[in-house]
Amino acid sequence: MDNKPSYDELKTKCDDFQAQIIRFLKVEQDLVDARSKLDRDLSRFKSIQTYSQRVLAAESIEEFADITIESVVETFEVECSAFFVFDKTRNMLIVQSLFGFDDDTHRNCQLDSGWISSRGFHKNGKVIIEQVEPDSVPFGTAGLYKVILSPYYDEDGTFHGMLTGGVSRSKRAYYDEITNQLIPSFMVFTQQMSAMLQNFEAKRFLDMKVHERTAQVMQQKKEIETINEELTRQKDELQKTLEDLRQAQTQLVQSEKMASLGQLVAGIAHEINNPVNFISAGVESLSRNLDEIKQVLDIYHKVTVNNVVGKLTEIEELKKKIEYQEAIREINKLIESIKNGTMRTTEIVKGLRTFSRLDEDILKTADIHEGIDSTLILLRNKYKNRIEIEKNYGILPHIECYPGQLNQVFMNILSNAIDAIDNKGVIKISTSVFKKCIRISIKDSGYGIPENLKDKIFDPFFTTKGVGKGTGLGLSISQGIIEKHNGCIEVQSKSGEGTEFIISIPVSQEIS
Ligand SMILES: Nc1ncnc2c1ncn2[C@@H]1O[C@H](COP(=O)(O)OP(=O)(O)OP(=O)(O)O)[C@@H](O)[C@H]1O
Ligand SMILES: [Mg+2]
Repeated sequence: MDNKPSYDELKTKCDDFQAQIIRFLKVEQDLVDARSKLDRDLSRFKSIQTYSQRVLAAESIEEFADITIESVVETFEVECSAFFVFDKTRNMLIVQSLFGFDDDTHRNCQLDSGWISSRGFHKNGKVIIEQVEPDSVPFGTAGLYKVILSPYYDEDGTFHGMLTGGVSRSKRAYYDEITNQLIPSFMVFTQQMSAMLQNFEAKRFLDMKVHERTAQVMQQKKEIETINEELTRQKDELQKTLEDLRQAQTQLVQSEKMASLGQLVAGIAHEINNPVNFISAGVESLSRNLDEIKQVLDIYHKVTVNNVVGKLTEIEELKKKIEYQEAIREINKLIESIKNGTMRTTEIVKGLRTFSRLDEDILKTADIHEGIDSTLILLRNKYKNRIEIEKNYGILPHIECYPGQLNQVFMNILSNAIDAIDNKGVIKISTSVFKKCIRISIKDSGYGIPENLKDKIFDPFFTTKGVGKGTGLGLSISQGIIEKHNGCIEVQSKSGEGTEFIISIPVSQEIS
């Protein structure tokens, strides 16, 4: 049996092989095409990546659009590109930027609502490729042959604009014709661009807010500076007013001091006058008595052995005449009285010296009792024969103080106490030590302080005394001095019954 294949069989097989080879070749071609498509896609994605980095540096929307369309041309091998932004108010697409168009007239290119709707771009439109009619506006008249139109949207799906690439009629031979293959990567590019644009706008919005806020802060800073300047000016003015007031107060205090000094001097003059009168009257009587005694002595000097009897008789007669024994007794009394007058004057002078220790700014240890006593001596003329001074002094240590200033306090409080007693009365002065402080109480039986005035008596210039009698500074100055000694001054008073001032001062200024 002949097993050789027949011609027909061989032909059929041959045809099968041929068909298979054609299929393989086709598959191979498809693979090559797919490979080249993949290569192009890869290169486009790389371009998109580069674009994303470049566009990040954009500082304005114009720059953003410029970079975008340059990248479209580079990435998709198109001849020209346009970046449209949707203007909501005019319902139109407006050109933001153009690349590759020879004619600048397209710079103002607009696409109206009808054009947009016809492409279905208002909502979720897709990328489309259009063959352009030569006379159609705007792409046909711009000389384009084919365009790729890719709408972009906000995050919430609102239409935001359109990205376009195109090939011109005249130069289309130089470029690959726009094919549907471009659509996916153009879509990716547009989506990437849209995301970048949203970031850019958000950043711009933030920058604007930051800018606005910075401007506000700067404005507020300016306002605060102005307020500060005003406050500083007011502070300076207040400082000056305070300075003026201080000066006025110093002058007032000075005049108050001068006034009380005048009263004091008058009182002391009167005080000194008394003993001086005693002394001068005593000296006069003494010299008269001595003259008479001198006459007796003269006769004694003239006695001789021969005239002794006669002279003694003369002496006896003169003694009787001048009341000799009486004169001798008177002389003793006069000497006593002169001694008293001298002592009193010495006491007053000593009191004055103690009181007027003008050592205001030097801390010294001093005996408080000495200060009170010297003050009392100086005030004696104001209270003698009228007010009884009852002293109840405790045993006090010497204290660290400004003695001249404390004497001024005693003078003010004792003067007030004397002033408060209309006719007869008592001033009780007690001292004691309590917890490292000395305590001085000056209590008068005067008319007292009404309840409603108690809070005011330490105020500068508060006085209930008549014009020319009180300046109202005594207690305010005294309080200042006591505070300077880290002490305190309190008052207890009942209208009609009397007033007690209690002063406490630390024994040592260091431990307080
Ligand atoms: N011992 C007191 N008894 C009653 N009132 C007093 C006594 N001490 C002070 N006052 C009241 O307090 C007021 C203020 O006293 P302060 O010593 O500050 O001023 P002044 O005595 O009126 O005047 P200045 O002392 O300046 O001459 C007095 O006017 C008086 O009304
Ligand atoms: Mg007074």
